[in-house]
Amino acid sequence: MLEEAGPEAARIIKLWWIFFAIGSLVLLAVAALLLVACFAPRPERGESAGSGRLGRTLVVGGGATVVLLLIMLVASHTYSRPSVEEGGEALTIEVIGKRWWWAARYFDENGNPLFETANEFHIPVGIPVRFRLLSDDVIHSFWVPKLGGKVDLIRGRTNHLWLQADEPGIYRGQCAEFCGMQHAKMAFLIVAQPADEFARWLDAQAAPAIAPASDVGRRGREVFVRSQCADCHTIRGESIASSGSTVGPDLTHLASRRSLAAGSVPNRRGHLAGWLADPQGVKPGNLMPSVPLAAGDFSALLHYLETLR
Ligand code: CUA
Repeated sequence: MLEEAGPEAARIIKLWWIFFAIGSLVLLAVAALLLVACFAPRPERGESAGSGRLGRTLVVGGGATVVLLLIMLVASHTYSRPSVEEGGEALTIEVIGKRWWWAARYFDENGNPLFETANEFHIPVGIPVRFRLLSDDVIHSFWVPKLGGKVDLIRGRTNHLWLQADEPGIYRGQCAEFCGMQHAKMAFLIVAQPADEFARWLDAQAAPAIAPASDVGRRGREVFVRSQCADCHTIRGESIASSGSTVGPDLTHLASRRSLAAGSVPNRRGHLAGWLADPQGVKPGNLMPSVPLAAGDFSALLHYLETLR
């Protein structure tokens, strides 16, 4: 959080330093006064503390507190507003908080939906991006410490957050509002790319899935359709009877993502197999059921999912 990577984060970090300085000052002052009080000579029996002491207490307890709170109020007001003008963003991404993962929708320049993806959001570097934040269930909070502040996703409300990355890179985000059993395993990645690289990613994600070329791939696709997978997940483009359901993440380009189950495990063959075989073991309480499959079907399904690049 202290190594900010964009103007929105720089704004938050200024506010953080002001609060940190004031908090430290108050802590040191209180500790010093406490020490003075510990070593001050005791008043004689019957001697009154006098009105001078009461006056000093009022100055310290009242005046200083009011002044410091006012400084914090003004600082909050100054630094908590986004530095991007309304409508000044280059791109809007809609993020929907789910238990316990993130769906994201990208749009074309006319605002029509392009595609949906999950848990890994690419953005162009050097320009502000607006995140439109919604929730499907409980309250979540969208936070990318190196890129900006956090904003809650609340069911029935639409909130907005602007982020900008000055350098290409991968920035980790995390749900920052306790949302149930797997709140800790509700992470995501922001991948900031130069404009041309981002445009290529956008085209690739908007494209439909490529039909499997091998027999084992085709068998895997059949398993996907025949078992319960297609009831919750969508694979775009093919007439493979995926239901268009958004209960689970869109899998059209699953193999292009870096992690599985919202940052729970890396997206590698062993982890993918483990996730398919025992999702409740990897992330207890999540909505993905274990689907019992014959060994041949299982490895064909695994192979097919790995072709979804
Ligand atoms: Cu979602 Cu915590």
